[in-house]
Amino acid sequence: MKRKGGLLAALAVLTLVLAELRFWLVPPVEPPVADARGAALWRGEQPLVGRIAGHDRALPSEAARCINCHGAATPPRDTTQAAPLLTAGHLREAVSRRGGPPSRFDETSFCTLLRTGLDPAAVLLPRHMPRYEIGDADCAALWRHLVSASR
Ligand code: HEC
Repeated sequence: MKRKGGLLAALAVLTLVLAELRFWLVPPVEPPVADARGAALWRGEQPLVGRIAGHDRALPSEAARCINCHGAATPPRDTTQAAPLLTAGHLREAVSRRGGPPSRFDETSFCTLLRTGLDPAAVLLPRHMPRYEIGDADCAALWRHLVSASR
């Protein structure tokens, strides 16, 4: 009886020690950080290959910068050419885009839109949003940058 009690106490102590150790062994989850390559692509510090739909020739890289049209500092222009502010909320929330049914972006549909101009509801974007030749890694970096909490 006495031995059993001692064993239980030892077990209880061991459980407590292991519970404490967990905090040392498992690092706390960090909030997602802005992606450096994604940020550089967004600002055009890393050149992008973009075209007006149907054109053979690529746009000069300065004209293909996302931030030119989607940046917060972009002066108001002709509203028929207005590019939305691409916040994480705007991209991920189910909203009606271009009169289509509510849709939201994920990495795959975001990359599809950049390459083909088709949005998640299969509505084709107008020509003033360029189409891009962008690899999977760069597209993923851009996506991470746009949905990052610390952008
Ligand atoms: C020359 C201007 C221009 C450039 C450069 C540009 N965009 Fe756009 N983009 C637009 C316009 C305008 C729209 C909105 C089209 C519409 O809805 O009528 C748009 C729409 C989008 C949308 C869809 C948003 C939604 O709510 O459906 C995404 C995503 C997007 N652009 C991402 C990008 C990214 C990423 C880049 C850079 C790789 C980029 N754009 C470069 C003009 C531009």
